[in-house]
Amino acid sequence: MTAESTTHRLADGTSLPLVGFGTYPLRGEEGVAAMVSALQAGYRYLDTAVNYENEAEVGEALRRSGLPREQVTVATKVPGRDHERERALESLRGSAARLGVEQIDVALIHWPNPGRGLYPQAWQALVEAQREGLVRTIGVSNFTEDHLTRVIEETGVTPALNQVEMHPLFPQERMRAVHARLGILTQAWSPLGKRQAPFDAEPVLAAARAHDVTPGQVILRWHLELGSMPLPKSATPHRQRENLEVTGFRLTAEEVAAVSALGRADGRLFGGDPDTHEEM
Ligand SMILES: NC(=O)c1ccc[n+]([C@@H]2O[C@H](COP(=O)([O-])OP(=O)(O)OC[C@H]3O[C@@H](n4cnc5c(N)ncnc54)[C@H](OP(=O)(O)O)[C@@H]3O)[C@@H](O)[C@H]2O)c1
Repeated sequence: MTAESTTHRLADGTSLPLVGFGTYPLRGEEGVAAMVSALQAGYRYLDTAVNYENEAEVGEALRRSGLPREQVTVATKVPGRDHERERALESLRGSAARLGVEQIDVALIHWPNPGRGLYPQAWQALVEAQREGLVRTIGVSNFTEDHLTRVIEETGVTPALNQVEMHPLFPQERMRAVHARLGILTQAWSPLGKRQAPFDAEPVLAAARAHDVTPGQVILRWHLELGSMPLPKSATPHRQRENLEVTGFRLTAEEVAAVSALGRADGRLFGGDPDTHEEM
């Protein structure tokens, strides 16, 4: 067995932690407390979005944690209503102000909204924002191969990562192959499967027994074995810690394949097909 990398390496030269922290729908004082607890547990990557309406809370948690700014990576997302170039740039400036940071570490386009057809403009804005130093790493979310191809062709700049729905019921085999070909990191939203998490599925339980870990840890480990960066959300301190403790064991190729075999063509949680789902 080869030694495992302790980070995800991006094509733009930066590195991200193996596991990030999802902040939706953490809001208000309770939300800040949950995020501070996550940072204390060891998370060093916070995933937010304009549409989560909690960027101010993320900034507050960052400051309250007392951690040096450069030790925590903060990611946010431009919403569908702001894809026009100028509006996208304004959205990024607003995010930086709400987060209370000079530079946004990672900025993504939240959904492509292909019905409006303006996502290439949003990508152009991210490319410019990166050149100006407002954003360090630029990527996308919920992009298909066609959407990726279009923005790469139009700007010559490849997104460093694509955050997509990925969990055992929807393992994203095809998009992972596309990402591997293009040098894009697969980042996973709803990595456990949220309300439909297959904690009781036999392949998950069998691996949990074999490695003396929890079903949640098996699923997050499965992501790492496939090269994906999971963003589990938990407001519960003991689950926050549990979800980070996934580096002390490895799944076998058979265990990975058995968990992947839980995947179904209709395994999306709410039918969020990026070709048709519109989110403003
Ligand atoms: N880009 C996008 O379009 C998009 C879409 C959806 C989500 N996201 C991002 O992805 C993040 C995570 O997604 P998600 O919250 O939908 O799904 P998730 O992380 O798969 O599931 C979260 C749920 O699982 C519970 N949980 C967490 N760890 C657990 C464990 N070890 N054992 C049992 N239950 C556990 C949590 O409960 P407790 O909190 O009570 O512990 C919560 O109810 C979001 O916060 C957001 O940042 C992005």
